[in-house]
Amino acid sequence: MKKSIPAFLLLFLSVQIFAQKNTNERAEWFTDARFGMFIHWGLYSAAEGYWKGEKLRNNNDYAEWIYYRNQIEKDEYVGLLDRFNWEDIDPEEWVILAKKAGMKYVTITAKHHDGFALWDSKVSDYDLGNYTDRDIIKEMAEACKKHGLKLGLYYSHWVDWEHLYGWNHEREIYGITPEEYDQYWQEKVIPQVRELLTNYGEIALMWFDMWINHKDAVVSKDQLLQLKNMIRELQPNCLVNSRLGLSIEEDPDIDFKTLGDNQLGSKKEDFPWQSPATVAHSWGFHSSDTQWKSTSALLKSLIGNASLNGNFMLNIGPRANGDVPFEISQRLLEMGEWLKVNGESVYGSEAFDLHADQHDWGKITCKPDENSFKLYLHVYNWPLNKKLFLTGVNEIPEKIYLLSDKEKTQLQFEHISTFTSIDLPSDQPDPYVSVVVLEYSKRPTIVDDIAAKTTDGGYALKPHNQISRLKNISVTPASNYGTVPAHVVVENEQTFKWKVFINEPGDKKVDVSYSFQGKANSGKFTVRIFKAELTGDISETGLTVGEPNENWHIENFKSKNLGTIHFPEAGMYDIELSIEPAKNESVNFQWMWIK
Ligand code: GLC
Repeated sequence: MKKSIPAFLLLFLSVQIFAQKNTNERAEWFTDARFGMFIHWGLYSAAEGYWKGEKLRNNNDYAEWIYYRNQIEKDEYVGLLDRFNWEDIDPEEWVILAKKAGMKYVTITAKHHDGFALWDSKVSDYDLGNYTDRDIIKEMAEACKKHGLKLGLYYSHWVDWEHLYGWNHEREIYGITPEEYDQYWQEKVIPQVRELLTNYGEIALMWFDMWINHKDAVVSKDQLLQLKNMIRELQPNCLVNSRLGLSIEEDPDIDFKTLGDNQLGSKKEDFPWQSPATVAHSWGFHSSDTQWKSTSALLKSLIGNASLNGNFMLNIGPRANGDVPFEISQRLLEMGEWLKVNGESVYGSEAFDLHADQHDWGKITCKPDENSFKLYLHVYNWPLNKKLFLTGVNEIPEKIYLLSDKEKTQLQFEHISTFTSIDLPSDQPDPYVSVVVLEYSKRPTIVDDIAAKTTDGGYALKPHNQISRLKNISVTPASNYGTVPAHVVVENEQTFKWKVFINEPGDKKVDVSYSFQGKANSGKFTVRIFKAELTGDISETGLTVGEPNENWHIENFKSKNLGTIHFPEAGMYDIELSIEPAKNESVNFQWMWIK
């Protein structure tokens, strides 16, 4: 009997889909923008990670947490204002830097956890307007308008260390009643966010910062909905992020998901999302923070996220005189130079249909235009043999060229079936990431679940690039500082299956990498390719030493050659590997290598 979906469920599903569609439409500019600036600037910027000569009391060294971590008195903390150099402070310079960096929006900390408002707030005395004649949000709004960038505001709604009833983590010990917390909510959060959305023109996004779900926090869902509904009422186009405390799954009306701090995307999503990231470690300026990420690492973070439909919001922590640390501005300007040449492959681009980890040379984005379809191959490592392999795209490209080449000089290529081999010039055009463009007349079809040819011409067949990808396969992650690689524990006979496209037929060697600590030669590998079969014993791989003199012995993984297989002609091949351990023995399988 055919089961029908109950009416209430249908209604629920269609409401969900409808809400998500609205969200995606509202957030279209955000998805296209891909790259934004985050600014952490407030009283803490003047402390620079130290209080009365003592470094911030927490290893994670987030300088903007100094008030809480070092148990500072409110009156003393506000005294940090004396260290601000107001003649030199010009928020327009931050906006100009964002523009030069190729960023499309800016999100500034209007109020961070310390509770201090960077604008002239009528509902609290703990604001810049009470101590100076400056209103940083107004200045930012004007500068953004002038330079054509969108303005977002960070507002710490959950945590507020200043208000008598705001949340600080010590309340886990000393408690707070829901009524007290609601007093904070109604007399500070609601009216302050109302001010921000009323007095400063268009606010493109509100960035809240509760990194746990409301179910685990003092904030109630009703309070969050009150806040969100007010935003919808005041500025219907303003985006709201998931750190409001409501996940996108729980409330599809949330506009975009914010990942963890410095957490990059790991899979393609079809809703808008974003990684907040720092150039070094701290968000607010910290004088001893030196873990600067390189320009190429930052560019790869941006590209990696774009290749999965994500956004990248990169933070600057200016000093109390407004200066942006040189290491930050230098990297941002370098990113801007790269985007000036290659931005077409990032802005308004999308994730392509192939698996994100398909190729070992870099990442792919794509852009469906009216009469054509472009693939952008972001080459992180310029292949030594000057050949770039693209596996899994069926159509023949109309032309291929380097994005940096204004003349669009065609690159030579060969295409058979689902494999394209591109001849690259000997020098990579960009020291960071070079982009190769493939133009098609329409969106090309793909072969899914194919294991790509690696840059050095072999096929690395791993548990996760099998025909059915990770389905039903449980991979034991790498351990012992990576000295034990990721593997599958095989206890009973198990068969792994891959699909590869061989463009250069002939004889190829087959190796299996595994670890086996049982009795010698008990068990068997069998590889079946086309009509050929190879077998090999599962022999002991022994132990290896992790570090000298530490008595740290690791089960060894070794690569064993099983022989050679003849591939008679170019084409698609199914490859099977069966592993049969002897009774009561187990084998840890890593990968198979064919070349
Ligand atoms: C964390 C921190 C905060 C920082 C934010 C940025 O939530 O509490 O200091 O503003 O991450 O993502």
